Amino acid sequence: MRILTGLQPSGKLHIGNYFGAMLPAVQLQDKGDAFYFLADYHAMTSMSDAATLRENVQNLAIDFLACGLDPEKATIFRQSDIPEVCELAWILSTVCPMGLLERAHSYKDKIAKGLDANHALFAYPTLMAADILLYDSELVPVGKDQKQHLEMTRDLAGKINDRFGENTLVIPEPQIKESTAVVPGLDGQKMSKSYNNTLPLCGAQKPLRKQVMRIVTDSTPVEDPKPTEGSTLIDIYKLFASEAEVQQMIADYQAGGFGYGDFKQRVFDAYWEYFTPVREKRAELENNLDYVNQVIADGAQKARAEATKVLDRVRKAVGLR
Ligand code: ADP
Ligand code: TRP
Repeated sequence: MRILTGLQPSGKLHIGNYFGAMLPAVQLQDKGDAFYFLADYHAMTSMSDAATLRENVQNLAIDFLACGLDPEKATIFRQSDIPEVCELAWILSTVCPMGLLERAHSYKDKIAKGLDANHALFAYPTLMAADILLYDSELVPVGKDQKQHLEMTRDLAGKINDRFGENTLVIPEPQIKESTAVVPGLDGQKMSKSYNNTLPLCGAQKPLRKQVMRIVTDSTPVEDPKPTEGSTLIDIYKLFASEAEVQQMIADYQAGGFGYGDFKQRVFDAYWEYFTPVREKRAELENNLDYVNQVIADGAQKARAEATKVLDRVRKAVGLR
């Protein structure tokens, strides 16, 4: 089974990305033939600094490997190493109704956030559909926010098949885990790089401790019992602490006599310990960029072989060959 997903190299990875996207992807590498790519063409819709894009792509590749992606099992590649994806996006755009793009939530949200309303942003769904269809992907694990993009992908593949032949494109299934909880940010809203409320996956101890100390709490005095319901601190703690540690914290909340500073220290310790292997692996990879670049180059070669095969089939079906 071909499993495929993409992540945009648009900034430092935070723990929301880790629990929501990275960890599930790494776990899926044992379930099929996984293709994971660094979506650099997509990232250009939200960033315009060349050096930053280059750096982010390398960092994301390092993150994938540090989080446990095994290049012997999964193929990791850079989207733009397979420019054939742009040709397939064009072909898909010939069957893509304007109305379909006009209904895209993601486009509307991004415009509302102040991104430029340019053609790339508008056509994002056709490129994303091409990402998926170019590799005959069968299963596409994504977050809830990508659900509509997956529906559009299936829709476009269906239109191509109706017009040019039933077996032209494989229609993919999305895998959207409703159970993957949204990781809360330091302020209690969804953690997101756009809200400046993130806890990065890796970094130096001192600034990270400071970030943890920023997690919102109420003003209950030290000696009083504290509300556990809706506590962002507890919700974040649950991500890395053992069940027993969580129960202990809840008991201490209810007993009173412990300040939030104490609880935050426990959160920091659990977080720091949980990500120690990732941090260590990351440091090792940063000193071995030749290896990282080789993994990406090998990935591109494998992905391209698959892409060429599918694109040849599509070109013949539509009459380009
Ligand atoms: P951000 O919101 O920081 O811009 P992205 O939209 O780039 O993050 O998300 C990349 C991936 O990480 C997506 O698959 C998304 O579903 C997942 N993700 C992002 N934030 C969270 C979160 N707070 N909780 C769970 N998953 C998240
Ligand atoms: N749009 C996705 C996101 O922002 C990233 C992405 C691009 C993707 N192409 C994809 C995800 C293809 C899955 C499959 O998170």
